[in-house]
Amino acid sequence: MGFNLKGKSFLTLLDFTPNEIRYLLDIAKQVKNEKRARTKTKRFEGLSLAIVFEKRSTRTRTSFETAFGEEGGYPVFLSSDDIHLGVKEDLEDTARVLGRMFDAIAFRGFKDETVNGLAKWSGIPVYNGLTDNYHPTQILADFMTIEEVFGSLTGKKLVFMGDARNNVANSLLIGSAKMGLHFVACGPEKLWPKNELIKKCHDIVEEYRTGAKIEITDDIGEAVKGADAIYTDVWVSMGEQVQKKERLDLLQPYQVNKELMSKTKRNDTIFLHCLPAVKGQEVTREIIEGPRSYVFDEAENRKHTIKAIMIATLV
Ligand code: CP
Ligand code: NVA
Repeated sequence: MGFNLKGKSFLTLLDFTPNEIRYLLDIAKQVKNEKRARTKTKRFEGLSLAIVFEKRSTRTRTSFETAFGEEGGYPVFLSSDDIHLGVKEDLEDTARVLGRMFDAIAFRGFKDETVNGLAKWSGIPVYNGLTDNYHPTQILADFMTIEEVFGSLTGKKLVFMGDARNNVANSLLIGSAKMGLHFVACGPEKLWPKNELIKKCHDIVEEYRTGAKIEITDDIGEAVKGADAIYTDVWVSMGEQVQKKERLDLLQPYQVNKELMSKTKRNDTIFLHCLPAVKGQEVTREIIEGPRSYVFDEAENRKHTIKAIMIATLV
């Protein structure tokens, strides 16, 4: 089934229905197969993409840049050091200029107001490549990886371990509610997702009858029991360095290691991480390098899912 997402921004998964997310995942599967078959396509020929990044990136930047360029498009990378955004020029003006020069904008940065403002003022599709609160493109890659391993998403038990209120955890929570997973956010109470977001996600489950289950807990044993996937992320996200000491103390018990993985009582549980990882902190080297780690499939799938978002919204 086709959906008309042309001209739409990708700011948070809250803006997309379960069927639209399904549609994006299906396109991603198709473009991954094309890439494997070395099929040449030029879907973005004659189009330009501004990649405006305030924070560092390896996977997200290269996904946007290669996915767009390989399809004949012209990506232009603009870091905060290169442009006037927020320094000499206000957001509305930069956005309107980019809207005249480009066909779409990929943004990574701090505030959601910035990415929302770019969408509002540029008049072209804007893609959220991570903000302090959300990382929606990441979740499509994570779900694509889970489907590749287990064949489906519905009812799969996905456990996020650690800083359960960070951008990745928030977006996994929303995505799981929409796609019918059993999502468990496990971490110290101080780092649980905001009640407002949890409520919104329960409402989504009701509205779309997705059958998703949502649990927030600090009980590691209960959380990981029977898990299909254990997911973790860095304990100190970009821009939160001042909280480093507190975080390391709070999160030590939630490190994903052999002992924690054994509590799943399964031998086919997979390990996921959005990367970059601090090995020895949120995950041991043994687990991330182990046979059940799918972190590099996940990283590759960033590119296919990002390409899918751009195809759905641009051509
Ligand atoms: N997972 C992810 O967003 O990685 P980068 O920070 O390297 O883009
Ligand atoms: N939570 C991490 C994700 C990096 C991809 C951060 O914001 O730094």
